[in-house]
Amino acid sequence: MTILAIETSCDETAAAALDSSGKLLGAALLSQMKMHAEFGGVVPEAASRSHLEALPAIIGAVLQQAGLGPSDFDLYAATTGPGLAPALLVGASAARGLAAGARRPFHGVNHIEGHLASPFFPQATLPPHIALVASGGHTLLFDVEGFGHCYLLGRTLDDAAGEAFDKVARLLGLGYPGGPAIEKAAYGGDPAAFDLPRAMQNTPGFDFSFSGLKTAARLALEKPGASVRVADFCASFQEAVADALAGRLARALRATGKKLAAMSGGVSSNLRIREKCRMAAEKEGAQLVAAEPWLRTDNAVMIAHAALLAAYSEAAAPRESAEIFPTLDPRWYSRN
Ligand code: KG4
Ligand code: ZN
Repeated sequence: MTILAIETSCDETAAAALDSSGKLLGAALLSQMKMHAEFGGVVPEAASRSHLEALPAIIGAVLQQAGLGPSDFDLYAATTGPGLAPALLVGASAARGLAAGARRPFHGVNHIEGHLASPFFPQATLPPHIALVASGGHTLLFDVEGFGHCYLLGRTLDDAAGEAFDKVARLLGLGYPGGPAIEKAAYGGDPAAFDLPRAMQNTPGFDFSFSGLKTAARLALEKPGASVRVADFCASFQEAVADALAGRLARALRATGKKLAAMSGGVSSNLRIREKCRMAAEKEGAQLVAAEPWLRTDNAVMIAHAALLAAYSEAAAPRESAEIFPTLDPRWYSRN
């Protein structure tokens, strides 16, 4: 079986081809980061126009690498949500069109399923684990039994972790995306220089909150007469996010008894955050795995992988009638 998958949920135009053994036949990705950097964030209308322009060449590159024609695949997949509606439409419509032309099924993939699969690429199953998905749009904690059996334990009540990085970087004039810029600027800084809040650490449950941290960071920067060493400030902010994520991860491992934790999404690129999560997991007797660098931020390989996992799972029937914009899958509603 061969799969062609498309991802256009946010600011990456991506396509990938995979065979049933998980062998990557081709992959191409174009990031719109530079364009959105001018606006300090992603502009949905501009993103969807760019996807429209870039997608034919991206698909063409993947077909060339795979040595296959547009109608040669057994399954066509695309991210159908969550994401920016006009951006999702571009990729999902293209994949549906290709599937119709090839008279093959279309499978709608939930973007989060892709992130959840990414630390385990190219395995054909997901092991039981606690998953932390932290990106610019999401901060989610799942209790995963296997593919399609993921229970949402907690989520951010306000900003996503990556969004907090982006907003604080903007305050500091460090540019977009803020995560890599803050990580770089934090190098050599003192993580204890600024006393920033670790929200929700003492509240029950598994939810996150980053808006208080963002406000505290702004107030510290705007304090009259404050002299801020950027390295110290960035290191302190990064440490506060790391503590918040690692604390919740440890609590989830403790509560479920799971011995494996996995991190995915753009924020898992942060070395200090990975390190703190690894230490927290080890303290609970668990191992931590993270997606490979090239699979951490949005890409189509993880979407193709999720489609493959779905094909192998009990939910084998492709979702011909998947809604274009499904909200969180009912399977993922909290158990509580
Ligand atoms: O997964 P991703 O590409 O997009 C979404 O699905 O949102 O993640 C992008 C987010 C941005 O907010 C970016 O600032 C953050 O991930 N990010 C980082 C790092 N690299 C990317 N955050 C902290 N440290 C990093 N090194
Ligand atoms: Zn994502």
